[in-house]
Amino acid sequence: MIVAQRHRPSSSISDDFETQGEKSFLRFLTCGSVDDGKSTLIGRLLYDSSHIFDDQLAALERDSARHGTIDGDFDFALLLDGLEAEREQGITIDVAYRFFDTEKRKFIVADTPGHEEYTRNMATGASTADLAVLLVDARRGVLSQTRRHSIIASLLGIRHVILAVNKIDLVGYDERTFDEIASHYREFAKNLDFITAVPIPISARFGDNVIHRSTNMPWYQGPTVLEHLENVPVDDAYIDSPFRFPVQYVSRTDRDFRGLAGQVASGKIAVGEPVVVANSGKLSRVREIVSMDGPLEEAREGQAVTLVLDDQLDVSRGNILAAPDAPPQVGDQFQAHIIWFDHEPLIPGRSYILRTECDSVTASVTNLKHTIDIHNFSQIAANTLAMNEFGVCTFGLQSPIAFDPFRSNRVTGNFILIDRYTNATVGAGMIDFALRRARNIHWQALDVSKSSRADLMNQKPAVIWLTGLSGSGKSTIANTLERVLHASGRHTILLDGDNVRHGLNRDLGFTNADRVENIRRIAEVAKLMVDAGLIVIVSVISPFRSERQLARELMGSGEFVEVFVDTPLEECVRRDPKGLYKRALAGDIRNFTGVDSPYEAPETPELRLQTIEAQPEALAMRIQEYVERRT
Ligand code: ADX
Repeated sequence: MIVAQRHRPSSSISDDFETQGEKSFLRFLTCGSVDDGKSTLIGRLLYDSSHIFDDQLAALERDSARHGTIDGDFDFALLLDGLEAEREQGITIDVAYRFFDTEKRKFIVADTPGHEEYTRNMATGASTADLAVLLVDARRGVLSQTRRHSIIASLLGIRHVILAVNKIDLVGYDERTFDEIASHYREFAKNLDFITAVPIPISARFGDNVIHRSTNMPWYQGPTVLEHLENVPVDDAYIDSPFRFPVQYVSRTDRDFRGLAGQVASGKIAVGEPVVVANSGKLSRVREIVSMDGPLEEAREGQAVTLVLDDQLDVSRGNILAAPDAPPQVGDQFQAHIIWFDHEPLIPGRSYILRTECDSVTASVTNLKHTIDIHNFSQIAANTLAMNEFGVCTFGLQSPIAFDPFRSNRVTGNFILIDRYTNATVGAGMIDFALRRARNIHWQALDVSKSSRADLMNQKPAVIWLTGLSGSGKSTIANTLERVLHASGRHTILLDGDNVRHGLNRDLGFTNADRVENIRRIAEVAKLMVDAGLIVIVSVISPFRSERQLARELMGSGEFVEVFVDTPLEECVRRDPKGLYKRALAGDIRNFTGVDSPYEAPETPELRLQTIEAQPEALAMRIQEYVERRT
C-alpha cells in the first residue's frame, strides 16, 4: 500500500496503518543535500518492494519521458508525486510522508528537503522519527549539511542513523572511498547521541544495496538499506515512562459527557487509575477510556483516546494529565537547546510564541548562553542565532507550562517558536531542565478599574504610537498633538524616545536586542499609563514590526493607534535635524536606523502621515480627529 501525502500524516491514516496486523513499525526520514538522491532512494524502496500499482507505473513512464532527468530510464524521484514547482525546480520543498510495508515491518517515511534553508522541514520530519537515512554523494563525502542534519537528528531524539553513501557507481564501487567516508563520519558522530550509525554503500539509481545485495561490491558484508530498516531494533521508547496525556481538546457530546481527548505521549493508563492535572495539581481517577473502536480497559503510548474522569475538574486544552507519583515539571523558566530556522536571526528579549504539544505561551530568550559549532562541537559566545545555527539558552515564559526534560520525554519536552508578527515557525527547541525563579507572584485584584479611572477624566484612554525614521518628524508632530489634545481638555502624557533614553532606558544602546528591550519597556509603561486613564503619545523609531505588534497586543481593542510618520529616508537625511545622519554616513555612528540598521515600515497602520509639504499642525489634527472619532 502506498499513501503519498504532502503533510504530517493525519492521525486517522497513520492510526489505521499502525494498527493493521502485528508487524512492528518504523518511522524514518531521509535527508541530504540537493541532488544526493533522496527521492530516488525512496522511489527505489517503494518500487523494488513491488508496492506500486500498474496505473502508477504507467504514470511514471509518462512523467519520466516528460520531466525525467535520467535518459531513457524511469526517474524514481517522480514516483513521489512531487509538487509541480518542485519538479520544475528539481528540488524538494516540503515534507512528504509515504507509507509502505514489507513482510517484516511497516514504514512511514518522511522525505525532507535538502536545500540549506529547509532545515525547518527537516526538523518537522525528524520530530517523530525513529531513524534517519542521511544521504551523501560518494564523490563529495560528508558535508556541512550532513553534519547539520546529523546534529538536528540527534537533538530531536533520533537514536539510529544510516549513512547511505550514494552514487558509489560513480566512484567505480571503490572500497577505499567508502571506508574513508565511513570513518570520517564515525569520528564526527561519536559526539552525538546515536545508538547505531551504520554506513552502507549504495547506488539508488541502479539499486545496489538498497533492497538487493549488490554484486558490484563483494567487499561489503553489511546489510542492505532495507535489511537494516527491517531489523534495527526500535524500542517502545516511552512505554515504561510515566504516564503523560497532553489534552488536545475537551469534548462535550451531551450535558453529562465530558471527555478529554488526546494521544498518550508516554506510559499507559487503565480504568480506575489515578491521574493528576499537571498544571493545577488536582487529582482524579479515570472512569472510562473511549476510543474509535469502543471502550478500552487500558490505553498505551501512541494511542489516541478520550478519557472520562471521576470528577469534573477544570481541565482544558494545554493541560497534561499525568501519573501522580511522577508528574511533569511546571514552570516559567527553563534552559533549552534550540535550532534556528528563520532568515531573521533570533533576538534575545524579543517575545515569540512558544508552542508545546498542546500549549501556547508568550516567551523570550532571557540569556543566549552560546552557539554550537557544527564542525567541532565547541561552544561559541554569541548575541544572536542565525539561520541553521544551534544554541543553548534560557527562556522566560509569560505564564507557567507543564513539561518534561526532552531527554526523558520527546513529546512533552519539545517546542517550536513562532514569530508573533509573521506567524512563521522560526525555531525548534528541546528543554534541558527547569530553572527556578521568584514564584508565587499573583495578580492582586484592584477595586478601582481602568474604565472608572478613565470615566473620571471623561475620556477614552489610548496609545498613539508614532513610528518612523529618525528625523521623520515624529517628535514635532507628537509635541503639536499633545498641545492640541491638552488644549481641548484631554489628559495626556508624551513618551519621547530620546527623553526616555535619558532615564528609564539609559542602560540601553542601539543593538537589535537593546532596541527590542527599549520598546518592550516603553510599551509596558504606556500600558500602565493607559490603565491610569491617560491618552499616551509615544514617539520612538520602533523599527521592528514584531515589537510594535507586542505593544499593540498589550493594549485593549481599539486602544492602540499606530501612526506611521512616512518620510522618505532621503528627506530625513536632507533634514538631519541633529546632524546624526551626517555622522552615521561618515561611519562615526554604528547601527544607525536607515543607514546600517533596518527599519520595518508598518504594513497596515491606523494612520499614515506623509510629511513632505504638510504642516505638523494639520497632521496633528488628523490624528486628533481619528482619536476622538473612536467609538
Ligand atoms: S529605537 O530604535 O530604540 O526605537 P529611539 O526612538 O528610542 O530608537 O531612539 C532614537 C533616537 O536616538 C534618534 O532619534 C536619535 O536621536 C538617537 N540615536 C542615536 N544613535 C542612534 C542610532 N544608532 N540609531 C537610531 N537613532 C539613534
